[in-house]
Amino acid sequence: MCGIVGYVGEKVALDVVVEGLRRLEYRGYDSAGVAIVTNETLWVAKKAGKLGNLEKLLAEEQLPPSGLGIGHTRWATHGGPTDVNAHPHISSNGRIALVHNGIIENYVTLREELAAAGITCESETDTEIVAQLVGQQVSAGLPLVEAMRVVCGRLRGAFTLVAVDSETPDGVVAARRNSPLVVGVGEGENFVASDVAAFIEHTREAIELGQDQLVSITPDTVKVITFDGEPAEVKPYHVDWDLSAAEKGGYDWFMRKEIYEQPRAVADTLLGRHDANSQLTLDEIRISEAELRRVDKIIVVACGTAFYAGLVAKYAIEHWTRIPCEVELASEFRYRDPIVGPTTLVVAISQSGETADTLMAIRHAREQQSRVLAICNTNGSTIPRESDAVIYTHAGPEIGVASTKGFLTQLVACYLLGLYLAQVREVKYGDEIAEILRELSAMPDAISEVLDDIGPVLNLAAEFADKRSVLFIGRHVGYPVALEGALKLKELAYIHAEGFAAGELKHGPIALIEDQVPVFVVVPPRGRDLLHDKVVSNLQEIRARGAKTIVLAEEDDDEVSRYADVMIKLPRVSTLLQPLVATVPLQMFACELATQKGHDVDQPRNLAKSVTVE
Ligand code: G6P
Repeated sequence: MCGIVGYVGEKVALDVVVEGLRRLEYRGYDSAGVAIVTNETLWVAKKAGKLGNLEKLLAEEQLPPSGLGIGHTRWATHGGPTDVNAHPHISSNGRIALVHNGIIENYVTLREELAAAGITCESETDTEIVAQLVGQQVSAGLPLVEAMRVVCGRLRGAFTLVAVDSETPDGVVAARRNSPLVVGVGEGENFVASDVAAFIEHTREAIELGQDQLVSITPDTVKVITFDGEPAEVKPYHVDWDLSAAEKGGYDWFMRKEIYEQPRAVADTLLGRHDANSQLTLDEIRISEAELRRVDKIIVVACGTAFYAGLVAKYAIEHWTRIPCEVELASEFRYRDPIVGPTTLVVAISQSGETADTLMAIRHAREQQSRVLAICNTNGSTIPRESDAVIYTHAGPEIGVASTKGFLTQLVACYLLGLYLAQVREVKYGDEIAEILRELSAMPDAISEVLDDIGPVLNLAAEFADKRSVLFIGRHVGYPVALEGALKLKELAYIHAEGFAAGELKHGPIALIEDQVPVFVVVPPRGRDLLHDKVVSNLQEIRARGAKTIVLAEEDDDEVSRYADVMIKLPRVSTLLQPLVATVPLQMFACELATQKGHDVDQPRNLAKSVTVE
């Protein structure tokens, strides 16, 4: 959370930085601020609220042109979302402007130390303490990079820091520990940012910064050192998507665009994963086949939507591989002292690759000698870097805070993992794997079919705009779909929404059913007779109690249509793959309902896309 940008070069830094912040606003939008340096003077502008508020202020204040600047868009942790707490923070000596993403855990002690030295902070943030400490060091004569290095050595917690010094106006210095930071390498200009989206318009050449490293950039140089002051190994990479992927392309919301990108994203995630004989390969795998054969337990750790992808994964992985698979919220995992060891495979699912809870969970797993496999959408991010193996989802940048194509591609990656394990452990015949791969390759068309027939879902959203509560039920893999449908609605429409396992309904939640309460029912394909019939019974139970039933079922499932007030037809697919089509109408329903209610769909209140604090 929090988006950070730094620029040095010949362009107008303010324009580059503000544009970069616009592309990072998904990371937090409680306040925004910029600092530029010109003629050894710092100019700072910052404002509570979304970036638009800062832009209004900048239109009034007209800062002078400069080729050096930093910026920040905030998701508040320490101190409310006010002008004073907005970043950048300035040291008392007026030299240092600094922005931060993360949490400084020992800030109270450091604040007391500063107070004892006669320095009082204006804001309630942990960040200002760092700005003051760096200010002290440059006043004592250290160059900015050294000052930052000394201060970083004293900080505990998670941080990406970016700073400028008015008296050394030729560069920006940035540092990272447990929070993301990438360097954009241009010609006669360089960038630092939380995410490549901030500079993709200018360059697609990037360098990933390792843990506990500092970088100093000038227009022509990029120098990376460790917190110990040693030169660090640099890992350059080319970003394989361009600016158009980070723009709305005519849609009202990024989210809607991303929903429509799902057939492509799923196809891309399947691309090149197996040879003509259906032999699967993973992207980066530093776990031997012998080790994979020894795995006796899988634990999936993830947060939010990625956790629901994990719940689906459990059904597929256990069914295909017969390896016991648990799914755990990453934030709960390490604190319950989980039983993991060298024969446990921990699978971390994360769109951003930066979610702090998930990162801490995998570190704990590795300390216990477990092997970790990451399913991730962001090349070069921390979680895949700290894992033993990676399956990248090729969804392209996901900007809407509520995950859509991220989720569907995570499902695909989970299916691929299940099949890969089945192949390595020889628990499925080659032709069985080939058959499932064939079904998977038909999924982009099936998702397109759902999108082509989305009209009834949009009408439904208009009709339900005033509802105060919506329920979702499903069984088997339809249960996580129900949870995801409810989460989307909570996130975007701010209405009470709950997902339940359909079988659990009678054990409590059925008390919530009253006249005209909308209940979405995810009906399994008829291929699973028993499961299908059970959900049909659940459907009758709620209908008898007055619920308005919106039924997602196979297109020619006549048996359920008679119990449906509204029928949303899904293409025929096999049971385990059904989430790939059943989730799509629910995403669109939430997107449309929130639009009808006049909410900001891409930036729902209180949320951030990438949660880099625990
Ligand atoms: C945040 C986002 C969710 C996302 C979750 C996990 O809470 O708002 O949409 O599912 O983080 O994010 P990750 O990047 O780890 O998949």
